[in-house]
Amino acid sequence: MRMRADPELLADRIEALVAMRPRVLVGIAGAPGAGKSTLAAAVAAALRARRVAVAVVPMDGFHLADVALDALGRRGAKGAVDTFDGAGFAALLARVATGEETVWAPAFDRELEQPIAGSIPVPPEARVVLTEGNYLLLPEKPWNRVRALLDEAWYVDIDGDLRYSRLVERHVRFGKSRAAAEAWVQAVDEPNAARIRPTADRADLVLRGE
Ligand SMILES: Nc1ncnc2c1ncn2[C@@H]1O[C@H](COP(=O)(O)OP(=O)(O)O)[C@@H](O)[C@H]1O
Ligand SMILES: [Mg+2]
Repeated sequence: MRMRADPELLADRIEALVAMRPRVLVGIAGAPGAGKSTLAAAVAAALRARRVAVAVVPMDGFHLADVALDALGRRGAKGAVDTFDGAGFAALLARVATGEETVWAPAFDRELEQPIAGSIPVPPEARVVLTEGNYLLLPEKPWNRVRALLDEAWYVDIDGDLRYSRLVERHVRFGKSRAAAEAWVQAVDEPNAARIRPTADRADLVLRGE
């Protein structure tokens, strides 16, 4: 099914699930720059306005640190699937799914371009946990464990040119020159986007980003 990426309508959909189970896990997937993080924040805000306790766990927190990427010789590929701790992400979501204890999730610091452990609390009271990132719907191990843990999975789909320009702008905003930003998008982000696109088939909903 396809629908508009409207945070209020999506919050309605999540509220219906909240009525049925103690904790709801929703994943938002999509290519780099599709608007996943922005949409997750908007849906979380809509739920909080309705007094629904929600936590947002970004897959970006599972970026490997530069020290590890240097050891692997993969610093120049940051953002590719093998530059994340996918098994660690799946394990954290499995803990989150039980809702038994506060789980501390890592965040990704865009200034440092590095993950920061212990940044985001997911307390037992959180009725909804939104997670968002590139590789949530990959069918390969260990990522396939992620899809299995999600009550709902959404895929954000936006026009390719719009995504490209927003992605370049975001790289520029966080310190790259325009030429370096465009080179990075072409060499790194776009091959990743091509890997992610076919995983839209595994989503319950495809959301039209604007
Ligand atoms: N609906 C929107 N309108 C305008 N700009 C947006 C919108 N959604 C996202 N953006 C911008 O596009 C860029 C990419 O969005 P982001 O949420 O970071 O994407 P993702 O998390 O999928 O990589 C960001 O700079 C963000 O501010
Ligand atoms: Mg993001």
